[in-house]
Amino acid sequence: MCGIVGYIGSREAYPIIIEGLKRLEYRGYDSAGIALFDGKDLKIAKTKGKVSDLEACVEKETSKTGNVGMGHTRWATHGVPNDVNSHPHASNSGDLAIIHNGIIENYDALKKELTSRGYTFKSDTDTEVLINLIEDVKKKENVKLGKAVQIALNQVIGAYAIAVYDKNKPEEVVIARLGSPLAVGIGEDEFFIASDASPFIEYTKNAIYLEDEEMAIIRLGKAIKIRKIKDDSLVDPYIQELQINLEQIEKGGYDHFMLKEIHEQPRAIRDTYRGRLLRDEAIIKMAGVEDNMKKFLNADRIIIVACGTSWHAGLVAEYIFEEFARIPVEVEYASEFRYRNPIITEKDVLIAISQSGETADTLAAIKLAKSKGAFVFGVCNVVGSSIARETHAGAYTHAGPEIGVASTKAFTTQITVLTLIALRLARAKGTMSSSDFRLHLHELELIPQKVEQLLQVDQHVKEIAKEYLLSTNCLYLGRGYNFPVALEGALKLKEISYIHAEGYPAAEMKHGPIALIDDRMPVIVIAPSKGHYEKVVSNIQEIKSRKGKIIAVVTEGDTAVRDIADHVIEIPDSEEAFSPLLTTIPLQLLSYHIAVMRNCNVDQPRNLAKSVTVE
Ligand code: M6R
Repeated sequence: MCGIVGYIGSREAYPIIIEGLKRLEYRGYDSAGIALFDGKDLKIAKTKGKVSDLEACVEKETSKTGNVGMGHTRWATHGVPNDVNSHPHASNSGDLAIIHNGIIENYDALKKELTSRGYTFKSDTDTEVLINLIEDVKKKENVKLGKAVQIALNQVIGAYAIAVYDKNKPEEVVIARLGSPLAVGIGEDEFFIASDASPFIEYTKNAIYLEDEEMAIIRLGKAIKIRKIKDDSLVDPYIQELQINLEQIEKGGYDHFMLKEIHEQPRAIRDTYRGRLLRDEAIIKMAGVEDNMKKFLNADRIIIVACGTSWHAGLVAEYIFEEFARIPVEVEYASEFRYRNPIITEKDVLIAISQSGETADTLAAIKLAKSKGAFVFGVCNVVGSSIARETHAGAYTHAGPEIGVASTKAFTTQITVLTLIALRLARAKGTMSSSDFRLHLHELELIPQKVEQLLQVDQHVKEIAKEYLLSTNCLYLGRGYNFPVALEGALKLKEISYIHAEGYPAAEMKHGPIALIDDRMPVIVIAPSKGHYEKVVSNIQEIKSRKGKIIAVVTEGDTAVRDIADHVIEIPDSEEAFSPLLTTIPLQLLSYHIAVMRNCNVDQPRNLAKSVTVE
């Protein structure tokens, strides 16, 4: 994780780097630092805390001048978050400085080796080891910085996106990546370096995304040169035009990104099916599916891999694929799948779901499946991300940038894409009649306006939130399509409000969790009218008889649950399979309001980061 930003050009680097770090803070926010070359020397300022703490630290300790510089916002892996462990790290001579996102796994052995040759270390980080390794190679081999970085990286095991700077060569910066993302913005006589393009979108729309195992030497006044780290071969730079704009990454009047993103869902879901769901023609058009139809139709099974919220979207997809297209589906945590020697054949289709497109475990699962000959399809939000590039084909969710660490619109748009795929396959396989297919297209098209209507429950949910903000535990129950929504609701609450919450299939309650229920236990029950309704109502009765507090999500007009529950939140009626797109909305709002009332940092919850690029 961690966010990195660099600038080299003729503008003042400080404001670009600070603003850029603020935009990348979603990647990690336990400490921050900056190095600026002021024309004579390299000035480093760093501190535990957020980018705002770094600003105060620079104000007190150093200057803000310089046209070259780099900054870092950290999510600690090696070494606790403190001033010393913050990046940038300087080499022993003080000539070189580095910022790093990733983990150097063999840092301990390298550190011992360097220590035996007289190097000393101030921090506990793997990064300080790397910069001294680079310095050591540079001196020993008498090579330029670029070569030294290359040789050093060939000795390293792990993952990295780095920017390295030599104060004696102020017009040059060396960057490299393996497993962690890195983009270069190409301006006129200036370059921007960043973990994603958000820090430089107001300066240039032209960007190069470094591929794994590539490095680049960026020199002012020269064209960027990209090389393979392993064999030094030159790579043709591919310059992409960026599609995002500044407005998309700002809060737009909302108090938090999470709230903005919750409210963006009608638009995001529409954008997801726009141009794909053609109701008048009664077709679904998705190039990635169309071009690989045989692979999907001949598949013995679909394996879905993902983490966190994306894994929950995968669980919803399991129900939808099996119901609509009658294809067996297995949903796996990417982190488990990659390490358990799974049976994968050429007749498997693996669907990898990831908002960021950078999740290390999901990427590793993809590589494993590819090595066994499976066809790999990606469902990502971030265009041009590692997973989007690593998969054989895919479909973007088009949710727009999601900045709040808690996923909201990513979840609903992932479900939308997966639903489109399932419907397309159902038609191709003939497992859904053409009238049912048309009906589903129509119903899916109605979802955004239903979400819009549903968002009006906000104030009501806020009132409910007031009653439960001091809870210490919470249960979420759902069945069928809404069992994954229960898991997702619980994840949302725990990650942003730090209230312990668990999701269960409603019927599982009797097999253990029911023991937890007493008059202080809020139980959120998802009970739409379609899909095991009576069974869920019985579960609600069971909770009530044990004095649990019931917050029920029901279809509008429901009366049976209203009589038993402490609170009801109504959702518009829909096809059963599409209900997760609705039931999840009040749960997002509930978590949001509880977290705000508990004074939690909703967009940047403790210990988390948006993009988990370490395993
Ligand atoms: O970018 P990805 O979708 O691959 O991320 C997966 C998880 O890290 C992510 O969904 C995480 O669980 C969210 N914080 C949940 O809100």
